[in-house]
Amino acid sequence: MLILSRGESGLREGKAAIEDKVSGAVVKYIASDIGAAMSADDTCEELVEQIKASTDGGNVAVLVNCAGLSYPGAMRFHEIGTEKFPDSDTQLISRLCRLNMESMARLTHAVLPWMVAKKAGTVINISSGNGRLPMGAPMYALYSGSKAFVDYFSRSLNAEYTPLGIQVESHSPNFVISDMSGYKAKHKSFTIVTPAEYASAAVQCIGKYDSVTPVFSHWLQDYVVQLLPLWLSRGMIAGMHSGLRAKHLRKIKRDSEAKGASGNDKKGQ
Ligand SMILES: NC(=O)c1ccc[n+]([C@@H]2O[C@H](COP(=O)([O-])OP(=O)(O)OC[C@H]3O[C@@H](n4cnc5c(N)ncnc54)[C@H](OP(=O)(O)O)[C@@H]3O)[C@@H](O)[C@H]2O)c1
Repeated sequence: MLILSRGESGLREGKAAIEDKVSGAVVKYIASDIGAAMSADDTCEELVEQIKASTDGGNVAVLVNCAGLSYPGAMRFHEIGTEKFPDSDTQLISRLCRLNMESMARLTHAVLPWMVAKKAGTVINISSGNGRLPMGAPMYALYSGSKAFVDYFSRSLNAEYTPLGIQVESHSPNFVISDMSGYKAKHKSFTIVTPAEYASAAVQCIGKYDSVTPVFSHWLQDYVVQLLPLWLSRGMIAGMHSGLRAKHLRKIKRDSEAKGASGNDKKGQ
């Protein structure tokens, strides 16, 4: 198994945890910023060469494109990079597009020839329930659009590559406890699931669908939203996300006050 992310200490921990749990597993890792590797050139050649060297010349059975980036909190699209939202910058737009869409497309493009040669392989791309809402996701427009891209890109590729023996599928979670969602273990509920619960549901789905919401409670949430008239679901989601924007603004205010207080403390020392 080869795992890839930016932080070397997290990768070391991941390697140790998997090798500890799965007898005989050998885990290698590459510490790399995939988004930056994509911007280095048009082919991300250096990273692809590293992956090839770590997988016995491209012996990849399953590729999981999971790394993703969202907004630091809900906000209107024109507010990205403004003074009102100092936890964002205008580069967020290119960073998000690069990581959520371009790097996923390029890594898939790099690995497919190896799979085509063997007439076997599976590509799993992690989308999001946010990319499948019938009314879109106001206050998360770019994230939602990027995840809709992941979903349709994967479905299209699946139709293209199934005749060649390769499965391409998109998996769409709703809330999973993680740094990105901001949910912690204490928030666990029917709809907010742990990474282990998510992974266990996702593994059951591999090879069965071109696009899937693996967790039952997430599937149920999506099903109910799809049943509602659009005016109602749009109003509900817009109201919910406006609430998240207000919460985000309150956090920015708290952080700025705390920063001001610590600045004053330092001056007073
Ligand atoms: N959590 C949810 O509720 C939720 C819901 C729907 C969809 N998703 C999707 O699920 C996927 C995983 O989300 P998560 O909640 O686990 O997010 P997370 O807690 O932010 O973790 C993201 C992972 O991607 C790696 N990563 C981030 N930027 C990277 C980069 N530029 N290059 C290489 N690796 C990078 C991070 O490791 P390093 O920081 O070490 O690089 C980390 O391992 C994402 O695609 C997300 O959109 C999550």
